[in-house]
Order: sequence, then structure tokens, then C-alpha cells
Amino acid sequence: MAMSTIPPHATLAERFHLARRDPELAVLEGLHALKHGYRFGAELLEVVVRDLAAVSALAERVAPDVLPVLRHAQSVGDVDFAALAPVTHATGVIALARRLLVDAARSFAAAGTGAIVLLERPTQPANIGAAVRVAAAAGAAGLFTLGGEDPWRPAALRGGAGLQYALPVARIEVLPPTDRPLVALDPEGDPLGAVPLPPRCVLVFGSERAGISGSLLARAAARVRIPMRAGVSSLNLATAVAVVLYALEGTAAR
Ligand SMILES: C[S@@+](CC[C@H](N)C(=O)[O-])C[C@H]1O[C@@H](n2cnc3c(N)ncnc32)[C@H](O)[C@@H]1O
Repeated sequence: MAMSTIPPHATLAERFHLARRDPELAVLEGLHALKHGYRFGAELLEVVVRDLAAVSALAERVAPDVLPVLRHAQSVGDVDFAALAPVTHATGVIALARRLLVDAARSFAAAGTGAIVLLERPTQPANIGAAVRVAAAAGAAGLFTLGGEDPWRPAALRGGAGLQYALPVARIEVLPPTDRPLVALDPEGDPLGAVPLPPRCVLVFGSERAGISGSLLARAAARVRIPMRAGVSSLNLATAVAVVLYALEGTAAR
């Protein structure tokens, strides 16, 4: 198994620990993440379970399509399983997979419909994961973080339930050239619904603390706010992504 940071003789526990920071690998923690990875074409490298009978019974009930994957899993028992991740997933399954190679320039230049979600310098992997999950559900054309946290790190994969495999997802350093208009989600903008939004746009969301930078705001063709009751300062980042994606016309999910 060729992995960029993993020596050939690493133990099982060492492989899972090194993979957490490996830019080519994804750690899928739990049956939910494994299920979505598998459904959306992840190349699975290792699948490890605590108790094969227990995980198989769960999969039989909630995701029978994953059973073929579990037949090839390595069963290791409580103690060895607990050594594979800082927090043991309750479903007792964990996997290593190759990340998808994403060509961000191509996504931003592509003619297809569906909005691209751009998160500027997000800091919370759980928020990024939740945004990936709703972007996948709504049929967005991609989700990119501009600086900030990596959307493939294990905590973001957990929050995204492995749906990083369902659409182009990557961290980028600069915004690639695009003919899509930028729509900034900003508490100072026009109320959502007041102006028609082009479905083939880049929806820009700011970081949890600082909001959108002045330079991205200056490039935006439109600024939109989600109306809120007086006294509420902002929505959670992923909640804002969900509201806007489902308000847009022409998402692939409809
Ligand atoms: C937690 S908010 C950041 C709040 C930040 N203190 C600010 O002043 O913008 C994260 C991002 O979610 C989006 N957001 C949250 N609530 C919003 C709202 N009511 N209208 C538009 N965008 C919103 C914005 O893009 C914002 O930058």
C-alpha cells in the first residue's frame, strides 16, 4: 500500500495515526462515513472493525449495501480497536481510504449548473463537515475552503459523514479564475429572495469569527443576508450554507 507518509512496516495503529495528517489519505470513522465513502466511489485501503458480528448486524439494518465491504474487514477486538483513533466511534468501524484528487481550477471553470460553495478561512472542522454534507445533499457543484481548515481532515470527514466523496471538495490557497458571479453571504446584504440569484454562482461564506474579508466582498456581484430576528447576530456557518443552497433555484437535488 503506497502512502505518502506511512512507512511500509508501520503497525495498524501507526498507519491509522499517520493517516490523520496524510494529505493523500482519509480516515473514515464510523459506519455512516464508510457507507458514503463506499457509495460515492472511495478507494478503500483498510477496513477495521471491533466486532464483525455487531457491525454487520447494524449494517444489515441501516446500510445493507455496505455488507460486501465488511466481509473484507479486519476484526481486532476492543483494545486494539481503541488504539486506532483518539475517540473510538460508537459503531465500531474505521477505514482508511485514498482522498479524491480534485482539480479546483476545473470545477470553477466548468460549465455545469449548481452553485459552488466557498468557505473563506473556516476554523471549525465540524462546521466544514456539516457544510459538505448539505452541499452534497443539495447537489452543489463543489465545496472549497479558501485557506483555513482542510475539509478532508478526520473531524471534517466525521461531520460530513464521508460525503467529501460525493462532490469536488478541497482546500485552496487562491480563488481560481471563474466566470461564475460571486455572491457574498453577508449580514449587511440585501435580504435573501429580494434579488434573483444565478444558480451557477460561487456562494461565499465568511469565517466563524471574522466574516468575509474586504477583498472578497469587493469582488462580489451581490451581497445577500438571511433575515434574522432582532438581537440574533448570525447563523452558524453550516446553517447559513443550508439555507442559501435550498433557497437557490436549480439545485441538482430538485
Ligand atoms: C458565524 S457567521 C460569522 C459571523 C461574523 N461575526 C460576521 O460578522 O460576519 C459565518 C458566516 O456565515 C454567513 N452568515 C451567517 N449568518 C448569516 C446571515 N444572517 N446572513 C448572511 N450570511 C450569514 C456569513 O457568510 C458569515 O460570514
